[in-house]
Amino acid sequence: MTAPGWLGQVSITLAECGSTSDVAASWARGELEGQGRAPHGAVVIADAQTRGRGRLGRSWHSPPGESLYFSAVLRPTLEPRRIPPLTLTAAVALAEAVLETGVTPELKWPNDVLVGGRKLAGILTELVCAGQRIDFVVLGIGVNLNNERFPPELAASATSLGLVLGRRIEREAFVRALCERLEVWYERFTSAGPAPVIAAWKEHARMLGGRVTVTLGGPKGPGQKAETITGVAEDLDADGMLVVRAADGHVMRVVAGEVAL
Ligand code: BTN
Repeated sequence: MTAPGWLGQVSITLAECGSTSDVAASWARGELEGQGRAPHGAVVIADAQTRGRGRLGRSWHSPPGESLYFSAVLRPTLEPRRIPPLTLTAAVALAEAVLETGVTPELKWPNDVLVGGRKLAGILTELVCAGQRIDFVVLGIGVNLNNERFPPELAASATSLGLVLGRRIEREAFVRALCERLEVWYERFTSAGPAPVIAAWKEHARMLGGRVTVTLGGPKGPGQKAETITGVAEDLDADGMLVVRAADGHVMRVVAGEVAL
């Protein structure tokens, strides 16, 4: 890839890998053969993933040649507890890159980019700490660029930019736009904190004010009971947590969970 700024200055593009986020983490630790430790802004892109991962232990549909599988190594000098809004930061950057293609996205807390209620892209933020400080973050982003069809289990819930626009999207051009928007929003977040990110996130979100059911911590495995809460998604708080008001007026702040609209 060719990138003008610090993000993607150093990059690896692979025909196939298990997960670009695993490759990026190995590179960040200096475990990739023939490579040193990945610097801040290093990017891994693959044409296909054999073990693409989503949030909450889910797999990420990763067929060859149709989508973007992108992972960036970031080395922020922030305390680990300051990291959660980084996912919202990436969501805002992704929304702006999608807008540049002519498609209007909707953001769903915390990491989904939807179009017409269907999932277009997702973000997986993984943090590796060394004691009390961050060693590195891997920001994994999957975008359905040119998929023409999805497997039956995703057919009703997923979409691609190609399907929405009726034309192919060039991956290289989309990556350039994404890196450019990510640089701007990452710098804003690390210099000014989460407030500008949260304000921008709300402008791209349609879910605030609507009824939601939140599975706390995400769906559980067989035999495990998931705790859910239902109410109105009122706002994001100053740390980017979702504020939900239940029917009895009780207000809850959600740190991690899966939201159904
Ligand atoms: C989600 O919506 O649950 C997050 C999906 C993140 C998928 C991307 S694709 C590139 C990177 N590599 C992975 O294995 N996952 C992320």
